[in-house]
Amino acid sequence: AQERALRPKVLDEYIGQEKARGQLEIFIHAARGRSEPLDHVLLFGPPGLGKTTLAHIIAKEMGVNLRQTSGPVLERAGDLAALLTNLEPHDVLFIDEIHRLSPVVEEILYPAMEDYRLDIMIGEGPAARSVRLDLPPFTLVGATTRAGMLTNPLRDRFGIVARLEFYTPEELARIVNRSAGLLDVPLAEDGALEIARRSRGTPRIANRLLRRVRDYAQVKANGTVSSAVADAALLMLDVDRLGLDVMDRKLLLAIVEKFGGGPVGVESLAAAIGEERDTIEDVLEPYLIQQGYMMRTPRGRVATNVAYQHFGLPQPKTNNGTP
Ligand code: ADE
Repeated sequence: AQERALRPKVLDEYIGQEKARGQLEIFIHAARGRSEPLDHVLLFGPPGLGKTTLAHIIAKEMGVNLRQTSGPVLERAGDLAALLTNLEPHDVLFIDEIHRLSPVVEEILYPAMEDYRLDIMIGEGPAARSVRLDLPPFTLVGATTRAGMLTNPLRDRFGIVARLEFYTPEELARIVNRSAGLLDVPLAEDGALEIARRSRGTPRIANRLLRRVRDYAQVKANGTVSSAVADAALLMLDVDRLGLDVMDRKLLLAIVEKFGGGPVGVESLAAAIGEERDTIEDVLEPYLIQQGYMMRTPRGRVATNVAYQHFGLPQPKTNNGTP
């Protein structure tokens, strides 16, 4: 069973994200009741929280097909035109990483979203002319890690905007229990919670750790995932007792040891740890900030006292204004 096999297929199976789920439930039922396509939906939040899963659920609940693509894949206007003209009425077009659309593609998306209309140029030079095509009414579901990276005109064309949040350990424990059932993994109650607590608030990570802990339990124990087995397996995987992984610790320790606790600019930080700036901003720091290990200030990133405590390091006296 792959990651896909664990994904919930309908809203009722979807755990957590109460706010987004509650809103979508109402808007989907209303649209269905009027026999209209669902308004365009923008999903944003850190990776692994269920944006793709929700897109599939929206299509399923609307009773339509889903076509999937991503921002970087749509290089030319014609790539998007080909997709749009092949949709059936009310279908969902899912565009992942929608903040990475090229300006020309974005430009033809506006009238498509607003009026189900496509204006494309055919030919070049003096022979060039513009043709207008009518499209079937459709729903665009866009996903992005940061809503702030969308242009205003694009963001304004989504009638429904849902922000996905990190999951609580209790929600993740329910997800781990559900996945263990589907994968036939013997799992103790406290084993589920141990994995949940150490999964960075992220179902994709929880499901991956469940598989690795299962392997460990099978080879090093009696096959059952207890909290002790989970703890030993997670330490082997370099996931510490607070659930931080190697990259999390590398980032925090760089701020503390190489930049005196900060503030340090994100570019300097990226160079120091050999990561892409985008990875720091999209993947690593959202969770570390949410958990209070670091802050984003106008002058750069700063490690908080929570980070110093976690590493058992003395807190600096001259401070950078952290609590
Ligand atoms: N698997 C991954 N994300 C999930 C969620 N939100 N609910 C249930 N199962 C999941």
